[in-house]
Amino acid sequence: MQKYILIIGACGQIGTELTFALREKYGKDNVVASDIREGTDNLMQSGPFEILDATDYDALEELIAYYEISEVYLMAAMLSATAEKFPMRAWNLNMNSLFNVLNLGKEKKIDKIFWPSSIAVFGPNTPKENTPQNTIMEPSTVYGISKQSGERWCEYYFNKYDVDVRSIRYPGLISWKTMPGGGTTDYAVEIYHKALSEGSYACFLKKDTALPMMFMDDAIKATIQLMEADDDAVKIRSSYNLAGMSFTPKEMAESVKKQLPSFQISYAPDFRQAIADSWPSSIDDVEAQQDWNWKAEFNLERTTQVMLENLKG
Ligand code: SER
Repeated sequence: MQKYILIIGACGQIGTELTFALREKYGKDNVVASDIREGTDNLMQSGPFEILDATDYDALEELIAYYEISEVYLMAAMLSATAEKFPMRAWNLNMNSLFNVLNLGKEKKIDKIFWPSSIAVFGPNTPKENTPQNTIMEPSTVYGISKQSGERWCEYYFNKYDVDVRSIRYPGLISWKTMPGGGTTDYAVEIYHKALSEGSYACFLKKDTALPMMFMDDAIKATIQLMEADDDAVKIRSSYNLAGMSFTPKEMAESVKKQLPSFQISYAPDFRQAIADSWPSSIDDVEAQQDWNWKAEFNLERTTQVMLENLKG
């Protein structure tokens, strides 16, 4: 049977690439992109698009009925750095959009949901290295609190109402098609843009702050793999740890220098340093490996090559 997919937040960093990947896989007219604003020309021209406010339940319900949607990817969220500036707006967007989608699942108006969580669910008391799936989780950011609460609700809706919701705790994501917006790991994308346009970059984190990261192709692959896994293979219904690579700004700068020897980096940590300090530096994702055969492909060297190649144009 033909399935119709809705992507909410399709113009964001992940949503853009997910839209392209799902359209490639399932056919462009079977994947409806939506966002509160329009996206890049490429995205807008690649298939059906609707303006949608993810916190508006009635609009969402109507759109789902109109397109006979059965699967929803909810990618709309306010990220960590912006959420610290607008705590209530972040909570409202991140939680109400999730409740809207979960409730449509509960009402059996959709069959399957993807919702992203984050390494931000961990906090300063979490073991930092190889952070396991189950450990102390005391997030200290607004964004982290919303993702941690979201994970609890996902598991609750699965257990209580049999809602097929699946989730990944994404690390910082590195991509070239669309810029990230308002995150703490954004430096790992900005650095490539500035290396090419200015030959230098002032990093807002300290040189030795290691964070878990992943190239976007791996993140998209993981997302689709999890969504296509058999129901009973998906044993974790809160959210799966997912690891790609882990590095510091200094290591990243060294990898850029290998390609662009005159590149210069300086460090001017701001309020985002405290957020980064509260997060793990590396992640153990053995459950994703075991349950749905997860394996990342991109390391830092390859990421740098692909980023610079594509951004050079
Ligand atoms: N990359 C996100 C952020 O920095 C974390 O999920 O906010």
